[in-house]
Amino acid sequence: MSDSATPPVRLRPEVLAVPAYRQGAAPTKPGFKLSSNENPFDPLPSVLAALQGRGDVNRYAGAAMPELRELIARRFEVRPDRVHLGAGSVAILYQLVHAAAGHGDAYLHAWPSFEAYPALGLASGAEAIRVPLNARAEHDLDAMAEAITPSTRVILLCTPNNPTGPAIRRDAFDRFMARVPSDTLVVLDEAYREFVTDPEAVRGEDVLALHENLVVLRTFSKAYGLAGLRIGYGIGHPAILSAAATAAIPLSVTGLAETAALASLSPDAQAESATRIAEIAERRDELVRGLRGLGLDVPDAQGNFVWIPEVAGAAGDSGAAGAATAGSARRIDTLALAAAFAEAGTLVRPFPGEGVRISVGETESLAEVLRIVRGFLSAAG
Ligand SMILES: Cc1ncc(COP(=O)(O)O)c(C=O)c1O
Repeated sequence: MSDSATPPVRLRPEVLAVPAYRQGAAPTKPGFKLSSNENPFDPLPSVLAALQGRGDVNRYAGAAMPELRELIARRFEVRPDRVHLGAGSVAILYQLVHAAAGHGDAYLHAWPSFEAYPALGLASGAEAIRVPLNARAEHDLDAMAEAITPSTRVILLCTPNNPTGPAIRRDAFDRFMARVPSDTLVVLDEAYREFVTDPEAVRGEDVLALHENLVVLRTFSKAYGLAGLRIGYGIGHPAILSAAATAAIPLSVTGLAETAALASLSPDAQAESATRIAEIAERRDELVRGLRGLGLDVPDAQGNFVWIPEVAGAAGDSGAAGAATAGSARRIDTLALAAAFAEAGTLVRPFPGEGVRISVGETESLAEVLRIVRGFLSAAG
């Protein structure tokens, strides 16, 4: 028998060279799972009830899903042919990159950003170009504009940026779009849009009508807590969305997901979700205040997660955690910090060399996060 890591058939070397997408770790002991930016609330009872009424799983769902597209279209004040559904917004990211960028083409994204971005172009053969975030952990839109070349086919903007937290400001977005060729696709990935409280943040619905080369992505996974059902949507020019549909795996949006999304958009469910979303945003802000109070240089957080950068805090803060003091900044050992969390039964997401992302979870998790970080800082310092 050959070793199980060596494929017994010819596969593409460029695919073999890239590791598969890694999900946040699953818990192994009691504690909080703060590693996947999930919604900590149980599903809404009305959504669960609607799911129970959908027993026809022996049938394929009707792929057009007109009622859901119509509802979403009304919210965005666009025609339904400007709405495209996908099995999670990540599916639409793949479709758009595949529809626009092949061999010899490139797509741009900030880094660190959503971990799926670097591999989106793998199968199509497009090259992913990473543009580092600025010192405030925000998109460096000037550097991104300068990185555009004739081969750039797609630009991914993640706002608020997963994993670091800041949202792109409207004025910066407008300046950036003025520098992007009008035949280059820009994707505004707003997976965490509902949690945004910065009044100056760009909002997809405000800018869609201004740019025919813009597709806005949203998801039911985060604010609506339907991550396990896989449903998201894109809004944009019908011809771009039609090309995305061509690149899609047929029939991948299930009827159950459609039913749950429809139930989530009912006025009562919307009101309940709004309360939960506000609660998560408040917990997030409390966590940011607590971590900053420990001397950490946590950037603005606009999603349902907070970020501890690897280089955090100024010299002279009490405690030097996990490793050396470099210049005027304190270096946090991200893997050691994540290990300290895991040891305490709480899972967070380390980005080696970059920082640690902590999702906003249950109320009780806030004190636990601060307890673990405080212990980690004092043990090292
Ligand atoms: C920035 C961003 N975009 C898209 C997604 C994909 O979400 P989904 O496919 O569940 O809609 C995620 C998931 O974590 C994300 O962080």
